[in-house]
Amino acid sequence: MNWRALILVFAISAMATLQACREKAAIATTNPLLKAYDVEQDANDPQRVIPLNYQQAQGKRVFNNTCVWCHAEATPAGPSNRSNVTPTPPLFTDGETLNPLTDEFLQNTITLGGSAMGKSTMMPPWGQTISEDEIRSVIAYIRAVAQPPYQPTARPASQYPVK
Ligand code: HEC
Repeated sequence: MNWRALILVFAISAMATLQACREKAAIATTNPLLKAYDVEQDANDPQRVIPLNYQQAQGKRVFNNTCVWCHAEATPAGPSNRSNVTPTPPLFTDGETLNPLTDEFLQNTITLGGSAMGKSTMMPPWGQTISEDEIRSVIAYIRAVAQPPYQPTARPASQYPVK
């Protein structure tokens, strides 16, 4: 091996090492927005973030597609419709209103709509729009973000399907 070949080998291994370092640095600085569905900002305490599990994160996606328009102060598109419907729908973080309601009651209200449960017809039925699993995940999300925090009861959920 002559000296030119030796320099070439050195140069190639130096480049490979540099490249490896660069890749590590890229992993360390991932875009926080890519992880946005894994966490929820606490509505009352901006210093605190609530970690979401897979089902809760799916629920957050459903909420932002379907429910945010009436159940939040602001939406991804700007103002919300919340003040135009009666009665004013509870915010999804409103644990005082939503914690006492059972999962089964929520599942029925979301699936069949307000009128089927003796509530306002302005709460639409979603059973034909989103799947049963998506409704379950949106309930998991409601429970995760509730303020005050939701305390699950020891009583098991109904074994029967909603429909
Ligand atoms: C068009 C506006 C609108 C949209 C969109 C909407 N809701 Fe509602 N929702 C309402 C209104 C109005 C009420 C209040 C009903 C009442 O108290 O009579 C309500 C009430 C509720 C309640 C509380 C029921 C109770 O017994 O207090 C839950 C839970 C709920 N909605 C879930 C959802 C979910 C989940 C979605 C998305 C899949 C959704 N809503 C989308 C209007 C809406």
